[in-house]
Amino acid sequence: MPRATGTKPAKAKAKPAKPYKHPEADSPMRPEVGTQPQFKKKLPPKTYKYDSSLSPVMEWDGQNFTRAKGEWLLTKIREGAALPAPHVFPQAQEFKSADGRVDCSVAGLQDAVQQLAKIEKPFLNWAGKAERLSFDVPSLPLFIHERLSTKAILETLKGHKKQGELFALFADPQHSIADQVLRAYEHRDKWVNRMILGDSLVVMNSLLQYEGMGGQVQMIYIDPPYGVKFGSNFQPFVRKRDVSHNDDGDMTREPEMVQAYRDTWELGLHSYLTYLRDRLLLCRELLSLSGSIFVQISDENVHSVRTVMEEVFAKDNFISTIVFQKTSSEEGDGVANTADYLLWFSRDRERFRNFALYRGKKPGEPGAKQYVYARRENTSETRRLTPEEVAKSETIPAGWVVCRRGYPLTSQDYSPTRTVDFVFDGKPYSPGKNRHWSVSPDKGLPSLVAKGRIYSTGKSLSGIMDLRDMPGTEIDNVWTDTGTGSFTDEQIYVVQTAEKVVERCILMTTEPGDLVLDPTCGSGTTAFVAEQLGRRWITVDTSRVPLALARQRVLSGTFPYYKLVSSCIS
Ligand SMILES: C[S@@+](CC[C@H](N)C(=O)[O-])C[C@H]1O[C@@H](n2cnc3c(N)ncnc32)[C@H](O)[C@@H]1O
Repeated sequence: MPRATGTKPAKAKAKPAKPYKHPEADSPMRPEVGTQPQFKKKLPPKTYKYDSSLSPVMEWDGQNFTRAKGEWLLTKIREGAALPAPHVFPQAQEFKSADGRVDCSVAGLQDAVQQLAKIEKPFLNWAGKAERLSFDVPSLPLFIHERLSTKAILETLKGHKKQGELFALFADPQHSIADQVLRAYEHRDKWVNRMILGDSLVVMNSLLQYEGMGGQVQMIYIDPPYGVKFGSNFQPFVRKRDVSHNDDGDMTREPEMVQAYRDTWELGLHSYLTYLRDRLLLCRELLSLSGSIFVQISDENVHSVRTVMEEVFAKDNFISTIVFQKTSSEEGDGVANTADYLLWFSRDRERFRNFALYRGKKPGEPGAKQYVYARRENTSETRRLTPEEVAKSETIPAGWVVCRRGYPLTSQDYSPTRTVDFVFDGKPYSPGKNRHWSVSPDKGLPSLVAKGRIYSTGKSLSGIMDLRDMPGTEIDNVWTDTGTGSFTDEQIYVVQTAEKVVERCILMTTEPGDLVLDPTCGSGTTAFVAEQLGRRWITVDTSRVPLALARQRVLSGTFPYYKLVSSCIS
Protein backbone atom coordinates (compact mmCIF):
# COMPACT_ATOMS: atom_id res chain seq x y z
CA MET A 1 0.00 0.00 0.00
CA PRO A 2 1.45 3.40 -0.88
CA ARG A 3 2.48 5.63 1.94
CA ALA A 4 0.18 8.43 3.03
CA THR A 5 1.86 11.78 2.40
CA GLY A 6 0.24 13.61 5.31
CA THR A 7 0.44 12.87 9.02
CA LYS A 8 -2.48 12.82 11.40
CA PRO A 9 -2.41 15.75 13.82
CA ALA A 10 -2.29 14.76 17.50
CA LYS A 11 -5.91 15.16 18.55
CA ALA A 12 -7.56 15.98 15.25
CA LYS A 13 -10.85 14.27 14.51
CA ALA A 14 -10.16 11.38 12.13
CA LYS A 15 -11.39 12.32 8.67
CA PRO A 16 -12.68 9.44 6.60
CA ALA A 17 -9.98 8.51 4.08
CA LYS A 18 -11.02 8.62 0.45
CA PRO A 19 -10.59 5.35 -1.42
CA TYR A 20 -7.57 5.69 -3.65
CA LYS A 21 -7.36 4.09 -7.04
CA HIS A 22 -4.78 4.31 -9.79
CA PRO A 23 -6.21 5.88 -12.90
CA GLU A 24 -7.26 3.25 -15.41
CA ALA A 25 -3.81 3.33 -16.96
CA ASP A 26 -2.97 0.89 -19.67
CA SER A 27 -0.32 0.53 -22.34
CA PRO A 28 -0.09 -1.16 -25.71
CA MET A 29 0.68 -4.87 -25.72
CA ARG A 30 4.39 -5.28 -26.39
CA PRO A 31 5.99 -8.17 -28.28
CA GLU A 32 7.90 -10.90 -26.42
CA VAL A 33 11.58 -11.35 -27.12
CA GLY A 34 11.13 -14.60 -29.13
CA THR A 35 8.97 -12.86 -31.74
CA GLN A 36 11.76 -10.61 -33.05
CA PRO A 37 12.17 -12.36 -36.46
CA GLN A 38 8.41 -12.20 -37.12
CA PHE A 39 8.00 -8.58 -36.06
CA LYS A 40 7.07 -6.72 -39.24
CA LYS A 41 5.78 -3.37 -38.05
CA LYS A 42 9.13 -1.61 -38.05
CA LEU A 43 9.00 2.16 -38.24
CA PRO A 44 11.48 4.43 -40.01
CA PRO A 45 13.97 6.45 -37.92
CA LYS A 46 12.49 9.60 -36.41
CA THR A 47 14.03 13.00 -37.05
CA TYR A 48 14.07 15.50 -34.19
CA LYS A 49 14.77 19.16 -34.89
CA TYR A 50 16.35 21.76 -32.65
CA ASP A 51 15.23 25.36 -32.41
CA SER A 52 17.91 26.81 -34.68
CA SER A 53 16.97 30.40 -33.92
CA LEU A 54 18.87 29.97 -30.65
CA SER A 55 22.20 29.85 -32.46
CA PRO A 56 22.75 33.27 -33.97
CA VAL A 57 26.24 32.55 -35.30
CA MET A 58 25.34 29.45 -37.22
CA GLU A 59 27.22 29.53 -40.49
CA TRP A 60 27.87 27.24 -43.39
CA ASP A 61 28.75 27.50 -47.11
CA GLY A 62 30.39 30.82 -46.32
CA GLN A 63 27.00 32.40 -45.62
CA ASN A 64 25.78 33.73 -42.32
CA PHE A 65 22.46 31.98 -42.05
CA THR A 66 21.24 33.84 -39.02
CA ARG A 67 22.01 37.22 -40.49
CA ALA A 68 20.03 36.27 -43.60
CA LYS A 69 17.19 35.13 -41.39
CA GLY A 70 17.33 38.35 -39.34
CA GLU A 71 17.11 40.43 -42.50
CA TRP A 72 14.22 38.34 -43.79
CA LEU A 73 12.38 38.81 -40.49
CA LEU A 74 12.92 42.59 -40.63
CA THR A 75 11.36 42.60 -44.09
CA LYS A 76 8.38 40.61 -42.75
CA ILE A 77 8.03 43.07 -39.88
CA ARG A 78 7.89 45.97 -42.34
CA GLU A 79 5.41 44.13 -44.57
CA GLY A 80 3.29 43.08 -41.58
CA ALA A 81 3.22 46.60 -40.16
CA ALA A 82 1.89 47.87 -43.50
CA LEU A 83 -1.08 45.49 -43.34
CA PRO A 84 -4.30 46.51 -41.57
CA ALA A 85 -4.71 45.27 -37.95
CA PRO A 86 -4.30 42.47 -36.79
CA HIS A 87 -1.34 42.54 -39.24
CA VAL A 88 -1.68 38.91 -40.34
CA PHE A 89 -0.43 37.69 -43.74
CA PRO A 90 -2.97 36.07 -46.08
CA GLN A 91 -0.81 32.94 -45.74
CA ALA A 92 2.07 31.97 -43.44
CA GLN A 93 5.47 33.19 -44.67
CA GLU A 94 8.31 30.65 -44.60
CA PHE A 95 12.05 31.04 -44.29
CA LYS A 96 14.01 28.07 -45.61
CA SER A 97 17.51 26.87 -44.79
CA ALA A 98 20.13 26.06 -47.46
CA ASP A 99 18.94 22.44 -47.70
CA GLY A 100 15.37 23.56 -48.36
CA ARG A 101 13.94 22.80 -44.89
CA VAL A 102 11.47 25.26 -43.42
CA ASP A 103 13.42 26.95 -40.62
CA CYS A 104 10.70 29.27 -39.43
CA SER A 105 7.20 30.23 -40.37
CA VAL A 106 5.52 33.49 -39.42
CA ALA A 107 1.79 34.16 -39.48
CA GLY A 108 2.01 37.92 -39.07
CA LEU A 109 3.74 40.91 -37.52
CA GLN A 110 3.66 39.56 -33.93
CA ASP A 111 5.24 36.25 -34.92
CA ALA A 112 7.99 37.97 -36.86
CA VAL A 113 8.80 40.24 -33.91
CA GLN A 114 8.96 37.24 -31.56
CA GLN A 115 11.25 35.27 -33.88
CA LEU A 116 13.57 38.26 -34.17
CA ALA A 117 13.64 38.67 -30.38
CA LYS A 118 14.74 35.03 -30.05
CA ILE A 119 17.78 35.68 -32.22
CA GLU A 120 19.00 38.35 -29.85
CA LYS A 121 19.27 35.98 -26.87
CA PRO A 122 22.73 34.90 -25.73
CA PHE A 123 23.35 31.19 -26.17
CA LEU A 124 25.84 28.49 -25.35
CA ASN A 125 27.88 27.16 -28.24
CA TRP A 126 30.02 24.05 -28.43
CA ALA A 127 31.83 22.04 -31.10
CA GLY A 128 29.37 20.25 -33.34
CA LYS A 129 26.30 22.20 -32.21
CA ALA A 130 25.98 24.51 -35.19
CA GLU A 131 26.35 21.69 -37.70
CA ARG A 132 23.54 19.68 -36.16
CA LEU A 133 20.14 21.24 -36.77
CA SER A 134 18.44 17.90 -36.35
CA PHE A 135 19.23 14.29 -35.52
CA ASP A 136 17.79 10.91 -36.41
CA VAL A 137 16.95 8.23 -33.87
CA PRO A 138 16.26 4.63 -34.96
CA SER A 139 12.73 3.51 -34.12
CA LEU A 140 13.22 0.11 -32.53
CA PRO A 141 10.47 -1.94 -30.91
CA LEU A 142 10.95 -2.91 -27.25
CA PHE A 143 10.74 -6.66 -26.70
CA ILE A 144 9.77 -8.11 -23.34
CA HIS A 145 12.51 -10.29 -21.87
CA GLU A 146 11.12 -11.07 -18.45
CA ARG A 147 7.93 -10.49 -16.51
CA LEU A 148 8.17 -10.17 -12.78
CA SER A 149 5.02 -10.22 -10.74
CA THR A 150 5.13 -9.86 -6.97
CA LYS A 151 1.56 -11.09 -6.82
CA ALA A 152 2.47 -14.24 -8.73
CA ILE A 153 5.49 -14.82 -6.50
CA LEU A 154 3.43 -14.40 -3.34
CA GLU A 155 0.61 -16.62 -4.57
CA THR A 156 3.11 -19.30 -5.59
CA LEU A 157 4.85 -19.15 -2.25
CA LYS A 158 1.56 -19.24 -0.35
CA GLY A 159 0.16 -22.39 -1.79
CA HIS A 160 1.96 -23.31 -5.01
CA LYS A 161 -1.48 -23.76 -6.50
CA LYS A 162 -4.33 -21.36 -6.10
CA GLN A 163 -7.74 -22.98 -6.46
CA GLY A 164 -8.99 -22.68 -9.99
CA GLU A 165 -6.11 -20.59 -11.32
CA LEU A 166 -2.45 -21.47 -11.61
CA PHE A 167 0.11 -18.72 -11.23
CA ALA A 168 3.48 -19.41 -12.77
CA LEU A 169 6.45 -17.92 -11.00
CA PHE A 170 7.65 -14.78 -12.83
CA ALA A 171 4.76 -14.68 -15.26
CA ASP A 172 1.55 -12.80 -15.68
CA PRO A 173 -0.97 -14.01 -18.25
CA GLN A 174 0.65 -13.83 -21.65
CA HIS A 175 -0.69 -13.48 -25.15
CA SER A 176 -0.45 -16.10 -27.88
CA ILE A 177 2.45 -15.81 -30.32
CA ALA A 178 -0.01 -14.99 -33.12
CA ASP A 179 -1.50 -12.17 -31.08
CA GLN A 180 1.90 -10.85 -30.19
CA VAL A 181 3.09 -10.77 -33.78
CA LEU A 182 -0.10 -9.44 -35.30
CA ARG A 183 -1.46 -7.24 -32.55
CA ALA A 184 1.66 -5.99 -30.76
CA TYR A 185 1.44 -2.27 -30.14
CA GLU A 186 -2.27 -2.25 -31.07
CA HIS A 187 -4.08 -4.26 -28.41
CA ARG A 188 -4.22 -2.48 -24.99
CA ASP A 189 -2.84 -4.28 -21.93
CA LYS A 190 -2.91 -3.52 -18.22
CA TRP A 191 -0.22 -1.13 -17.05
CA VAL A 192 3.02 -2.69 -15.74
CA ASN A 193 6.09 -0.90 -14.42
CA ARG A 194 9.18 -1.47 -16.53
CA MET A 195 12.96 -1.73 -16.47
CA ILE A 196 14.34 -1.34 -19.95
CA LEU A 197 17.84 -2.18 -21.15
CA GLY A 198 18.95 0.19 -23.89
CA ASP A 199 20.22 3.62 -24.74
CA SER A 200 17.87 6.20 -23.28
CA LEU A 201 17.59 8.03 -26.60
CA VAL A 202 16.45 4.96 -28.52
CA VAL A 203 14.17 3.80 -25.69
CA MET A 204 12.50 7.19 -25.29
CA ASN A 205 11.99 7.37 -29.05
CA SER A 206 10.42 3.93 -28.97
CA LEU A 207 8.07 4.96 -26.15
CA LEU A 208 7.04 7.92 -28.29
CA GLN A 209 6.81 6.20 -31.67
CA TYR A 210 5.47 2.74 -30.84
CA GLU A 211 3.61 3.35 -27.61
CA GLY A 212 2.25 6.86 -28.09
CA MET A 213 3.54 7.97 -24.70
CA GLY A 214 4.09 11.60 -25.67
CA GLY A 215 2.75 13.89 -22.93
CA GLN A 216 2.07 11.06 -20.47
CA VAL A 217 5.00 11.27 -18.09
CA GLN A 218 4.42 13.42 -15.02
CA MET A 219 7.98 13.55 -13.75
CA ILE A 220 11.41 12.71 -15.14
CA TYR A 221 14.38 12.23 -12.85
CA ILE A 222 17.62 12.09 -14.77
CA ASP A 223 20.98 11.54 -13.13
CA PRO A 224 23.34 11.36 -16.09
CA PRO A 225 27.09 10.91 -15.90
CA TYR A 226 28.20 14.30 -14.61
CA GLY A 227 30.38 15.02 -17.64
CA VAL A 228 33.59 14.60 -15.61
CA LYS A 229 35.83 11.56 -15.03
CA PHE A 230 33.48 9.67 -17.28
CA GLY A 231 35.07 6.25 -16.76
CA SER A 232 34.20 6.18 -13.09
CA ASN A 233 30.50 6.76 -13.79
CA PHE A 234 30.00 3.26 -15.11
CA GLN A 235 30.26 0.36 -12.71
CA PRO A 236 31.34 -2.68 -14.72
CA PHE A 237 30.84 -5.37 -12.06
CA VAL A 238 27.88 -6.07 -9.78
CA ARG A 239 30.01 -6.89 -6.76
CA LYS A 240 32.69 -4.20 -7.10
CA ARG A 241 31.47 -0.80 -6.06
CA ASP A 242 34.77 1.14 -6.10
CA VAL A 243 35.51 2.19 -9.65
CA SER A 244 38.46 4.36 -10.49
CA HIS A 245 38.77 6.70 -13.43
CA ASN A 246 41.17 5.59 -16.22
CA ASP A 247 41.86 2.18 -14.69
CA ASP A 248 41.91 -0.50 -17.42
CA GLY A 249 40.66 -3.12 -14.98
CA ASP A 250 37.56 -1.00 -14.40
CA MET A 251 36.76 -0.49 -18.07
CA THR A 252 33.43 -1.85 -19.21
CA ARG A 253 33.33 -4.77 -21.62
CA GLU A 254 29.69 -4.41 -22.64
CA PRO A 255 29.43 -3.34 -26.32
CA GLU A 256 26.46 -1.03 -25.55
CA MET A 257 28.52 0.66 -22.90
CA VAL A 258 31.50 1.16 -25.18
CA GLN A 259 29.07 2.84 -27.59
CA ALA A 260 27.51 4.94 -24.77
CA TYR A 261 30.99 5.87 -23.59
CA ARG A 262 31.95 7.02 -27.08
CA ASP A 263 28.70 8.94 -27.68
CA THR A 264 29.02 10.75 -24.41
CA TRP A 265 32.71 11.45 -24.19
CA GLU A 266 34.41 11.46 -27.61
CA LEU A 267 34.87 15.25 -27.61
CA GLY A 268 34.76 15.69 -23.87
CA LEU A 269 32.29 18.31 -22.72
CA HIS A 270 31.27 19.07 -26.34
CA SER A 271 29.91 15.59 -27.00
CA TYR A 272 28.51 15.46 -23.47
CA LEU A 273 26.35 18.53 -24.07
CA THR A 274 25.16 17.14 -27.40
CA TYR A 275 24.35 13.81 -25.68
CA LEU A 276 22.37 15.60 -23.01
CA ARG A 277 20.54 18.01 -25.30
CA ASP A 278 19.31 15.15 -27.53
CA ARG A 279 17.94 13.28 -24.53
CA LEU A 280 16.39 16.35 -22.96
CA LEU A 281 14.56 17.07 -26.20
CA LEU A 282 12.94 13.62 -26.09
CA CYS A 283 12.20 14.04 -22.36
CA ARG A 284 10.29 17.17 -23.27
CA GLU A 285 8.18 15.23 -25.77
CA LEU A 286 7.31 12.64 -23.12
CA LEU A 287 6.40 15.10 -20.36
CA SER A 288 2.80 16.01 -19.69
CA LEU A 289 2.04 19.74 -19.77
CA SER A 290 1.77 19.73 -15.98
CA GLY A 291 4.98 17.71 -15.61
CA SER A 292 8.45 18.44 -14.29
CA ILE A 293 12.00 17.31 -14.97
CA PHE A 294 14.89 17.16 -12.50
CA VAL A 295 18.48 16.81 -13.71
CA GLN A 296 21.00 15.81 -11.05
CA ILE A 297 24.44 17.29 -11.69
CA SER A 298 27.60 18.36 -9.88
CA ASP A 299 29.13 21.82 -9.70
CA GLU A 300 31.57 21.28 -12.61
CA ASN A 301 28.86 21.46 -15.26
CA VAL A 302 25.75 22.77 -13.51
CA HIS A 303 26.01 26.11 -15.31
CA SER A 304 26.33 24.59 -18.82
CA VAL A 305 23.57 22.04 -18.20
CA ARG A 306 21.22 24.76 -16.98
CA THR A 307 21.83 26.74 -20.17
CA VAL A 308 21.12 23.66 -22.29
CA MET A 309 17.92 23.06 -20.31
CA GLU A 310 16.88 26.67 -20.85
CA GLU A 311 17.25 26.09 -24.59
CA VAL A 312 15.16 22.94 -24.56
CA PHE A 313 12.51 23.81 -21.96
CA ALA A 314 12.60 27.66 -22.21
CA LYS A 315 13.96 29.96 -19.56
CA ASP A 316 10.49 30.80 -18.24
CA ASN A 317 9.89 27.18 -17.27
CA PHE A 318 12.81 27.09 -14.86
CA ILE A 319 11.54 26.37 -11.32
CA SER A 320 14.57 26.05 -9.04
CA THR A 321 18.12 24.89 -8.51
CA ILE A 322 18.11 22.65 -5.46
CA VAL A 323 21.39 22.25 -3.61
CA PHE A 324 21.57 18.98 -1.73
CA GLN A 325 24.21 17.53 0.50
CA LYS A 326 25.75 14.38 -0.99
CA THR A 327 28.39 13.62 1.60
CA SER A 328 29.70 15.13 4.79
CA SER A 329 33.35 15.10 3.79
CA GLU A 330 34.95 15.58 0.40
CA GLU A 331 38.25 17.10 -0.53
CA GLY A 332 38.13 20.38 -2.41
CA ASP A 333 40.51 23.19 -3.19
CA GLY A 334 39.81 26.01 -0.78
CA VAL A 335 36.59 24.60 0.56
CA ALA A 336 35.12 21.10 0.86
CA ASN A 337 32.71 20.26 -1.91
CA THR A 338 29.86 18.36 -0.32
CA ALA A 339 26.84 19.25 -2.44
CA ASP A 340 25.26 18.30 -5.76
CA TYR A 341 22.51 20.11 -7.64
CA LEU A 342 19.07 19.42 -9.03
CA LEU A 343 17.99 21.57 -11.97
CA TRP A 344 14.20 21.63 -11.91
CA PHE A 345 12.22 22.72 -14.98
CA SER A 346 8.51 22.48 -15.60
CA ARG A 347 7.17 21.54 -19.02
CA ASP A 348 4.85 24.53 -18.86
CA ARG A 349 5.08 26.85 -15.89
CA GLU A 350 1.47 28.01 -16.31
CA ARG A 351 0.13 24.51 -15.82
CA PHE A 352 2.72 22.67 -13.76
CA ARG A 353 1.62 20.56 -10.81
CA ASN A 354 3.39 21.20 -7.53
CA PHE A 355 2.88 20.19 -3.90
CA ALA A 356 4.59 21.90 -0.99
CA LEU A 357 6.56 19.67 1.35
CA TYR A 358 7.14 20.39 5.02
CA ARG A 359 9.84 19.45 7.44
CA GLY A 360 9.37 19.44 11.22
CA LYS A 361 10.26 22.74 12.94
CA LYS A 362 12.94 22.58 15.61
CA PRO A 363 13.24 25.37 18.23
CA GLY A 364 15.78 27.99 17.21
CA GLU A 365 16.42 26.51 13.71
CA PRO A 366 15.59 28.18 10.38
CA GLY A 367 11.80 28.50 10.13
CA ALA A 368 11.49 28.37 13.95
CA LYS A 369 14.12 30.87 15.09
CA GLN A 370 11.62 32.73 17.29
CA TYR A 371 10.42 29.60 19.03
CA VAL A 372 12.77 29.92 22.00
CA TYR A 373 10.16 30.25 24.76
CA ALA A 374 8.18 27.74 26.81
CA ARG A 375 4.59 28.35 27.91
CA ARG A 376 3.02 26.68 30.94
CA GLU A 377 0.03 24.86 29.47
CA ASN A 378 -3.40 26.53 29.88
CA THR A 379 -1.76 29.76 31.12
CA SER A 380 -0.02 32.74 29.55
CA GLU A 381 3.03 32.24 31.75
CA THR A 382 6.14 32.05 29.59
CA ARG A 383 9.88 31.76 30.12
CA ARG A 384 12.93 31.50 27.86
CA LEU A 385 14.10 28.00 26.98
CA THR A 386 17.51 27.09 28.39
CA PRO A 387 20.26 26.36 25.79
CA GLU A 388 19.99 22.69 26.73
CA GLU A 389 16.21 22.73 26.11
CA VAL A 390 16.75 24.39 22.71
CA ALA A 391 19.28 21.71 21.75
CA LYS A 392 17.24 18.79 23.15
CA SER A 393 13.52 19.48 23.26
CA GLU A 394 12.95 16.21 25.14
CA THR A 395 14.49 17.87 28.23
CA ILE A 396 11.60 20.37 28.45
CA PRO A 397 9.59 19.40 31.55
CA ALA A 398 6.05 18.08 31.17
CA GLY A 399 3.36 20.78 31.32
CA TRP A 400 5.43 23.25 29.23
CA VAL A 401 5.09 23.73 25.48
CA VAL A 402 7.52 25.41 23.05
CA CYS A 403 6.18 28.75 21.82
CA ARG A 404 7.10 32.13 20.38
CA ARG A 405 6.13 35.49 21.83
CA GLY A 406 5.33 38.65 19.89
CA TYR A 407 2.94 37.08 17.41
CA PRO A 408 1.16 40.02 15.74
CA LEU A 409 -2.55 40.33 16.55
CA THR A 410 -3.35 43.24 14.21
CA SER A 411 -3.37 43.82 10.46
CA GLN A 412 -3.31 46.89 8.25
CA ASP A 413 -6.31 49.09 7.33
CA TYR A 414 -9.43 50.29 9.07
CA SER A 415 -12.34 47.87 9.60
CA PRO A 416 -15.71 49.08 10.91
CA THR A 417 -16.16 45.92 13.04
CA ARG A 418 -12.54 45.23 14.05
CA THR A 419 -11.04 48.68 14.55
CA VAL A 420 -12.49 48.84 18.05
CA ASP A 421 -11.06 48.78 21.58
CA PHE A 422 -10.64 45.37 23.23
CA VAL A 423 -10.66 45.07 27.03
CA PHE A 424 -7.91 42.84 28.46
CA ASP A 425 -7.32 42.52 32.24
CA GLY A 426 -9.70 45.45 32.75
CA LYS A 427 -7.79 47.78 30.43
CA PRO A 428 -8.94 48.86 26.91
CA TYR A 429 -6.46 48.31 24.04
CA SER A 430 -6.75 49.82 20.56
CA PRO A 431 -5.47 47.94 17.45
CA GLY A 432 -3.94 51.27 16.33
CA LYS A 433 -4.92 53.93 13.86
CA ASN A 434 -5.80 52.52 10.46
CA ARG A 435 -5.32 48.94 11.76
CA HIS A 436 -7.73 46.22 12.85
CA TRP A 437 -7.63 43.08 15.04
CA SER A 438 -6.65 40.06 12.91
CA VAL A 439 -9.22 37.89 14.72
CA SER A 440 -12.73 38.98 15.63
CA PRO A 441 -12.86 41.02 18.87
CA ASP A 442 -16.18 39.47 19.93
CA LYS A 443 -15.28 35.75 19.70
CA GLY A 444 -11.68 35.23 18.47
CA LEU A 445 -9.83 37.45 20.96
CA PRO A 446 -11.76 36.21 24.06
CA SER A 447 -11.06 32.62 22.99
CA LEU A 448 -7.31 33.38 22.71
CA VAL A 449 -7.41 35.02 26.16
CA ALA A 450 -9.06 31.90 27.61
CA LYS A 451 -6.24 29.76 26.16
CA GLY A 452 -3.52 31.99 27.62
CA ARG A 453 -2.35 33.14 24.18
CA ILE A 454 -2.44 36.92 24.75
CA TYR A 455 -0.26 39.18 26.88
CA SER A 456 0.11 42.91 27.30
CA THR A 457 3.26 44.71 26.21
CA GLY A 458 2.12 47.92 27.97
CA LYS A 459 0.43 49.97 25.28
CA SER A 460 -0.62 47.09 23.06
CA LEU A 461 -1.43 43.38 23.00
CA SER A 462 0.68 40.61 21.55
CA GLY A 463 0.09 36.94 20.81
CA ILE A 464 1.74 33.66 21.81
CA MET A 465 1.99 30.96 19.14
CA ASP A 466 2.77 27.36 20.13
CA LEU A 467 5.15 25.38 17.93
CA ARG A 468 2.59 22.59 17.78
CA ASP A 469 0.06 25.01 16.18
CA MET A 470 2.13 24.91 12.99
CA PRO A 471 4.77 22.21 13.47
CA GLY A 472 6.05 22.16 9.88
CA THR A 473 7.98 24.61 7.78
CA GLU A 474 7.93 24.48 3.98
CA ILE A 475 11.15 23.03 2.61
CA ASP A 476 13.32 25.34 0.51
CA ASN A 477 15.95 24.64 -2.12
CA VAL A 478 18.79 23.88 0.30
CA TRP A 479 18.68 20.28 1.52
CA THR A 480 21.25 19.60 4.18
CA ASP A 481 19.76 16.36 5.47
CA THR A 482 20.41 14.23 2.38
CA GLY A 483 24.08 13.23 2.73
CA THR A 484 24.79 9.57 2.14
CA GLY A 485 26.86 7.80 4.73
CA SER A 486 26.80 5.02 7.23
CA PHE A 487 23.47 6.06 8.74
CA THR A 488 21.52 6.50 5.50
CA ASP A 489 20.57 4.14 2.63
CA GLU A 490 22.69 1.09 1.94
CA GLN A 491 24.98 1.85 -1.03
CA ILE A 492 24.94 -0.83 -3.72
CA TYR A 493 26.04 1.27 -6.71
CA VAL A 494 28.98 3.56 -7.18
CA VAL A 495 26.88 6.61 -8.08
CA GLN A 496 23.70 5.89 -6.14
CA THR A 497 21.42 8.81 -5.26
CA ALA A 498 20.02 9.15 -1.75
CA GLU A 499 16.41 7.96 -1.62
CA LYS A 500 15.33 11.08 0.26
CA VAL A 501 16.36 13.28 -2.70
CA VAL A 502 14.32 11.36 -5.26
CA GLU A 503 11.45 10.93 -2.80
CA ARG A 504 11.10 14.68 -2.37
CA CYS A 505 11.16 15.28 -6.12
CA ILE A 506 8.43 12.69 -6.63
CA LEU A 507 6.29 14.04 -3.79
CA MET A 508 6.67 17.64 -4.95
CA THR A 509 5.51 16.97 -8.50
CA THR A 510 3.34 13.86 -8.72
CA GLU A 511 0.28 12.19 -7.26
CA PRO A 512 -0.23 8.46 -6.65
CA GLY A 513 -0.68 6.68 -9.97
CA ASP A 514 1.26 9.28 -11.96
CA LEU A 515 4.01 8.05 -14.25
CA VAL A 516 7.66 8.68 -13.32
CA LEU A 517 10.52 8.06 -15.76
CA ASP A 518 14.23 7.71 -15.02
CA PRO A 519 16.29 7.29 -18.20
CA THR A 520 19.46 6.76 -16.11
CA CYS A 521 18.31 3.93 -13.82
CA GLY A 522 21.62 3.03 -12.16
CA SER A 523 20.75 1.05 -9.06
CA GLY A 524 17.06 1.90 -9.50
CA THR A 525 16.60 4.53 -6.78
CA THR A 526 13.77 6.24 -8.69
CA ALA A 527 11.97 2.96 -9.39
CA PHE A 528 12.37 1.86 -5.77
CA VAL A 529 11.02 5.12 -4.34
CA ALA A 530 8.24 5.39 -6.93
CA GLU A 531 7.14 1.84 -6.08
CA GLN A 532 7.03 2.74 -2.40
CA LEU A 533 4.98 5.87 -3.09
CA GLY A 534 2.47 4.18 -5.40
CA ARG A 535 3.58 5.94 -8.58
CA ARG A 536 3.84 4.10 -11.90
CA TRP A 537 7.40 3.96 -13.21
CA ILE A 538 9.66 3.22 -16.17
CA THR A 539 13.41 3.14 -15.84
CA VAL A 540 16.13 2.69 -18.46
CA ASP A 541 19.83 1.92 -18.41
CA THR A 542 22.26 1.10 -21.13
CA SER A 543 24.26 -1.20 -18.90
CA ARG A 544 23.29 -4.65 -17.60
CA VAL A 545 25.24 -4.20 -14.36
CA PRO A 546 23.14 -1.44 -12.79
CA LEU A 547 19.94 -2.99 -14.16
CA ALA A 548 20.80 -6.26 -12.40
CA LEU A 549 21.32 -4.33 -9.16
CA ALA A 550 18.11 -2.37 -9.64
CA ARG A 551 16.10 -5.49 -10.42
CA GLN A 552 17.27 -7.16 -7.25
CA ARG A 553 16.67 -4.02 -5.20
CA VAL A 554 13.08 -3.54 -6.37
CA LEU A 555 12.23 -7.24 -6.14
CA SER A 556 13.67 -7.78 -2.71
CA GLY A 557 12.62 -4.42 -1.27
CA THR A 558 10.25 -4.38 1.67
CA PHE A 559 8.12 -1.33 2.16
CA PRO A 560 6.58 -0.14 5.42
CA TYR A 561 2.92 -0.93 5.95
CA TYR A 562 0.78 2.06 6.90
CA LYS A 563 -2.49 1.84 8.75
CA LEU A 564 -5.19 3.92 7.13
CA VAL A 565 -6.66 6.89 8.96
CA SER A 566 -10.06 5.37 8.44
CA SER A 567 -10.18 1.66 9.19
CA CYS A 568 -13.31 1.16 7.09
CA ILE A 569 -11.22 1.17 3.92
CA SER A 570 -9.01 -1.81 3.26
C1 LIG B 1 24.92 8.45 -12.34
S1 LIG B 1 24.24 6.93 -12.72
C2 LIG B 1 22.61 6.96 -12.06
C3 LIG B 1 22.56 6.50 -10.64
C4 LIG B 1 21.18 6.46 -10.04
N1 LIG B 1 20.65 7.78 -9.80
C5 LIG B 1 21.15 5.67 -8.75
O1 LIG B 1 20.63 6.14 -7.75
O2 LIG B 1 21.69 4.56 -8.75
C6 LIG B 1 24.00 7.10 -14.42
C7 LIG B 1 23.51 5.85 -15.09
O3 LIG B 1 23.16 6.21 -16.43
C8 LIG B 1 23.48 5.13 -17.27
N2 LIG B 1 23.65 5.68 -18.61
C9 LIG B 1 24.66 6.42 -19.10
N3 LIG B 1 24.44 6.73 -20.39
C10 LIG B 1 23.26 6.18 -20.71
C11 LIG B 1 22.48 6.14 -21.88
N4 LIG B 1 22.89 6.73 -22.99
N5 LIG B 1 21.30 5.49 -21.84
C12 LIG B 1 20.86 4.87 -20.71
N6 LIG B 1 21.57 4.88 -19.58
C13 LIG B 1 22.75 5.52 -19.57
C14 LIG B 1 24.74 4.53 -16.68
O4 LIG B 1 24.89 3.17 -17.02
C15 LIG B 1 24.53 4.74 -15.20
O5 LIG B 1 24.02 3.58 -14.60
